[in-house]
Amino acid sequence: MDHFLYRDGALFAEDVPVAEIAASVGTPFYLYSTATLVRHFRLFDEALSWGPHLVCYAMKAASNQAILKTLAAEGAGMDVVSGGEYARAKAAGVPGDRIVFSGVGKTEDEIRMAIEGGIRQFNVESEPEMAVISRVATDLGATVPITIRVNPDVDAKTHAKIATGKSENKFGIPIAKARDTYAEAARLPGLKVIGIDVHIGSQLTQLEPFEQAYKKVAELTETLRADGHEITRLDLGGGLGIPYARSNEAPPLPGDFGALIQRTVGHLGCEIEIEPGRLIAGNAGILVSRVIYVKEGEGRRFLILDGAMNDLIRPAMYDAHHEIVPVIEAEPGAELSPFDIVGPVCESGDTFAKGRLMPPLADGDLVAFRSAGAYGAVMASEYNTRPLVPEVMVKGDQVSVIRARPSYEEMIARDSIPDWLATPSNADSAAAE
Ligand code: LLP
Repeated sequence: MDHFLYRDGALFAEDVPVAEIAASVGTPFYLYSTATLVRHFRLFDEALSWGPHLVCYAMKAASNQAILKTLAAEGAGMDVVSGGEYARAKAAGVPGDRIVFSGVGKTEDEIRMAIEGGIRQFNVESEPEMAVISRVATDLGATVPITIRVNPDVDAKTHAKIATGKSENKFGIPIAKARDTYAEAARLPGLKVIGIDVHIGSQLTQLEPFEQAYKKVAELTETLRADGHEITRLDLGGGLGIPYARSNEAPPLPGDFGALIQRTVGHLGCEIEIEPGRLIAGNAGILVSRVIYVKEGEGRRFLILDGAMNDLIRPAMYDAHHEIVPVIEAEPGAELSPFDIVGPVCESGDTFAKGRLMPPLADGDLVAFRSAGAYGAVMASEYNTRPLVPEVMVKGDQVSVIRARPSYEEMIARDSIPDWLATPSNADSAAAE
């Protein structure tokens, strides 16, 4: 459930008409609902309330300071995957002991930054990385908690580009090798092994792959404990999917996910962490865009929007489906007809949907992409020198621009000119004479 609903035929974000925001901010823009973010976080928190736990929001999904602060105020931890995300989490006021550092290629600088700033744990992804964490921690006179991410070789049954738990994926260490890696971790100075980490992929629409993975983690916990390791924390990753298309079968809910966790690993007495991103932010955000032209092609009609693949890359990158709805609802009984919905970027890949059935739309009309809150703004670029799409947040009847659209001057000012171009060379000026 989200808080983008029609009232008397006009789409609202909580208590604010979307069209009103579009008139003041301009299009395209991302729009987030505080109530939806908070609601989704609480669903996870409640789903794990049977035991000690921390919900660490995977901030790669949407990392604006306002979003992080909203969730941090609810008690969320953060799952970060880069020095930049770590800095963002700290800037939003998240204490180090609520920040988990994941990611397959943490650099020495990032590791140092996190140890100095405070960290709940590193989720280690390889033996070479473990050695570097050990060395940096020892240099700093610290002992840092680690889990080791195991790759359970489970098919997450999701899009190949976002599946991470099969042996051919770059993530984690093979679960069959885990005992050796844990033994090595126990020998290294500066590390305190505290648990196991697993994350098998994103946009999972069934519980069964989680169940397979978590059962393997439960078995491994027993084995490692028998080997003498103190396993007190299990980080079970993120990945729970959301319904993007209305026709989709409904993916499992956070409550089902929490019950599954209790059933598979609850008996081990570990503190549980999860790292949901998409389910917290996905339906808490929409992308609002305006129709520039309705263009009649040969045998097809194009809806050319001012939003493009650089603003929302998911359809181009993962063939992802987003519901696209008019901001002013069509008259009841209005006839639907097929449109190819595209952006203005000079690539055929800049296509959001083909043959999508839409109500009548005309130049200047507003549309909203639903479920765009996760992996939307964070994956945007300035391709075609299109300004990075701004972000707006609502809370009840309050509206705030949480990231402004850069001006062309600001965009150009980020470039700098090398000396040899700054002053015209003699040859150039001679030629000009
Ligand atoms: N933990 C780890 C270690 C991850 O790699 C990810 C996502 C998550 C947690 C959060 O997963 P979630 O709950 O959001 O599914 N850009 C793609 C999704 C990439 C996901 C990468 N890792 C998309 O737009 O679908």
